[in-house]
Amino acid sequence: MSRAPDLALIGGTGLYRWPGLADMERHALDTPYGHPSDSVKIGRLGGRRVAFLARHGESHTIPPHRVNYRANVWALHHLGARRVVAINAVGGIRADMAPRVIAIPDQLIDYSHGRLDSYCDVAGAEVRHVDFGAPYSAALRGALLAAAGRSGVAVVDGGCYGVTQGPRLETRAEIARLRRDGCDLVGMTGMPEAALARELALDYACVALVANWAAGCGDTDEITLDEVLANVADATARLVPLVEALLEAA
Ligand code: HPA
Repeated sequence: MSRAPDLALIGGTGLYRWPGLADMERHALDTPYGHPSDSVKIGRLGGRRVAFLARHGESHTIPPHRVNYRANVWALHHLGARRVVAINAVGGIRADMAPRVIAIPDQLIDYSHGRLDSYCDVAGAEVRHVDFGAPYSAALRGALLAAAGRSGVAVVDGGCYGVTQGPRLETRAEIARLRRDGCDLVGMTGMPEAALARELALDYACVALVANWAAGCGDTDEITLDEVLANVADATARLVPLVEALLEAA
């Protein structure tokens, strides 16, 4: 196998390939947990090797509750990645989490259900209770924040990501409850990915791209896909120099 990637990126809604990956190899893997969402692309970016995986598949055919999170995370680990930046489109709940904001959350609450969420639940596997008090890697969060500073990209440091089941969006009452629970952002794909990454001892952090106000938080009655995609594209354009700055320091 070729040299391990210095960084892996998992792209969410609206982000199906990473701009500028040169000399790209495609790794189509079959893992002990089944097939990942797509082939893992590994290419060169700024003199480093970067892996990219589209969480929903390259043409967005896999809904959040059907993503094979175990295969995805296992595949990146198997290819040698040890640092994973997960990019997630989210709705904004807190007043400063407006559409187009880039946030680097530091906490999460998992409201998802029925997902295969551990490597310990296969026959014969050792049962482990990994520490998950701080669900994201402090080192990688710090590196992302430093890269944001160096590249002059504004980000919100911290926030609690509420992970809902989807694929439907939430009711206003559900968002009001998430707010009372302390959630600042809402999305559908933050878990079990983060916990699986912890089970494999990966350095994993989330970059949340705010795609819309969560239900009842903005002044529109409806959330549209056009709005979501336009805001994710806008935030992604600012994320590119931030990732380049992260790689420079890698
Ligand atoms: N809710 C849940 N997931 C999301 C949202 C939202 O409002 N926007 C983008 N992903």
